[in-house]
Amino acid sequence: MENKFNYNIALIGFMGTGKSTIAACLHELYGMEVVEMDELIAKREGMSIPQIFEVHGEQYFRDLETNLLIEMQSKKNVVISCGGGVPLRECNVVEMKKNGRVVLLTAKPETIFERVKDDHNRPLLENNKTVEFIAELMESRREKYEAAADIVVHVDGLSKVEICKKIEKELAK
Ligand code: S3P
Repeated sequence: MENKFNYNIALIGFMGTGKSTIAACLHELYGMEVVEMDELIAKREGMSIPQIFEVHGEQYFRDLETNLLIEMQSKKNVVISCGGGVPLRECNVVEMKKNGRVVLLTAKPETIFERVKDDHNRPLLENNKTVEFIAELMESRREKYEAAADIVVHVDGLSKVEICKKIEKELAK
């Protein structure tokens, strides 16, 4: 099923809410091209995300995110799996909304913890892997995430296909 959506879908949400999994599922179900922001940035820089943070600092990484979103404006029917920090910059939200709809995925801090506890690719959580830290960071970002979102899908207890169907239904309203 090609070109189901004539706009881009930007998936936003905290680390570990399943943006990459859902992007892959939207690809399987609707044939949408997927842009994995972190993966593409790491590939272009020839470094992992933790290395980029270490060598160039977080602001450099954030600028790469903004530039990539601007680049995405030339595309259509693409699902953009955004890094968790993307909606924190207002100009990023403006870019995402230009020819896209913004879908916020949310999950409980406990769910996030289980998903990220053995991962070493997220510099912001590297020495902070507790439910309390995750809950606090999530809360501090909540307002910006919600302000950016056109729709919100709470993922706990849902399968990836159920989540995709929910996204499709909500976007069709
Ligand atoms: C970040 C989320 C990460 C990655 C970087 C910073 C954040 O992406 O971009 O580590 O600030 O929330 P994921 O949400 O894909 O883990």
